[in-house]
Amino acid sequence: MKKPVWILSTLLVLMPALSNASDSMADKAVDYRQGVFSILGWNIGPMVQMMKKEKPYDKDIFARNAQRMAAVAPMALEGFIPDSATKDSDAKPKIWSNMDDFKSKMKDLETASAELAAVAKTGDMAQIGPKFQNLGQACKACHDEYREE
Ligand code: HEC
Repeated sequence: MKKPVWILSTLLVLMPALSNASDSMADKAVDYRQGVFSILGWNIGPMVQMMKKEKPYDKDIFARNAQRMAAVAPMALEGFIPDSATKDSDAKPKIWSNMDDFKSKMKDLETASAELAAVAKTGDMAQIGPKFQNLGQACKACHDEYREE
């Protein structure tokens, strides 16, 4: 039986959106992980300012951003597909020869962001301070090792 014409035309319309022919899978993976990190960077920005008292502490915004970071952190690893140290990427090739260590640093990020999100709701700086330090440390530990300056 012949397929109805509308199925074919729908597929043709969707095709460019589904696969951008000019972008390789590696390019897409780089865009994806940089997008995830941009979300982390965007959300931690005001939190850093609040911690440094450059901005008044706003419990709700701080807790919301911490929540977002905890939700997004587990999504980063998926973007590190093999052979994706492209010229647009700042990822060091040694990530792929040290994948176990890289994954464990990702795990630290997940744990630290989840723990911060949990205490951020309390608004209690005595609890938030140390968890925020841990999160910053998780970012730095990986960048020092695996991100191009
Ligand atoms: C396990 C490793 C790892 C952890 C943890 C990590 N990063 Fe990164 N980050 C990277 C790598 C690798 C890159 C480079 C990605 C690329 O260009 O392909 C990067 C890039 C970035 C970028 C630049 C994105 C862009 O548009 O080029 C920002 C911003 C960033 N990270 C923020 C953070 C913040 C904030 C945290 C902590 C909350 C964090 N990262 C935790 C490995 C990590």
